[in-house]
Amino acid sequence: GAPVEVDISKLEDGQMVRVEWRGKPVWVVRRSDAILEELGGHDGDLRDPSSDEPQQPEYAQNKFRSVKPEIFLAVGICTHLGCSPTYLPDSFSEQVSGVTAGFFCPCHGSKFDMAGRVFAGVPAPLNLVVPPHTFLDDNTILVG
Ligand code: FES
Repeated sequence: GAPVEVDISKLEDGQMVRVEWRGKPVWVVRRSDAILEELGGHDGDLRDPSSDEPQQPEYAQNKFRSVKPEIFLAVGICTHLGCSPTYLPDSFSEQVSGVTAGFFCPCHGSKFDMAGRVFAGVPAPLNLVVPPHTFLDDNTILVG
């Protein structure tokens, strides 16, 4: 499939834009400073906090799992059985106490934080996949 260009110039804190790449949904989310700070606070609740799993791309193997801290990309497919998790920008605390935003898979209850890192004790075995991408300029990302 051809690479897909994403314009993020209008993307505000907490907003997500969805694009399709190779038939898969790809999410692009702008994370606020508060969310970035929150990502440091629950490593002990995660299955693979530093994305050590070999399936993860090299640039996802950092604290924010991203090229730029504020811009997060993920393939929007649960690593359990392929459902599409729901983005909960402000009601995630009902799923995981103390974590304000994240992704919740309604099929079997897997929970992911705002870096797509899977919480321990849910069916999904791996963090959400970060798709290959590059920044063409500050406001344009090429996925693929
Ligand atoms: Fe997401 Fe099973 S497919 S938890």
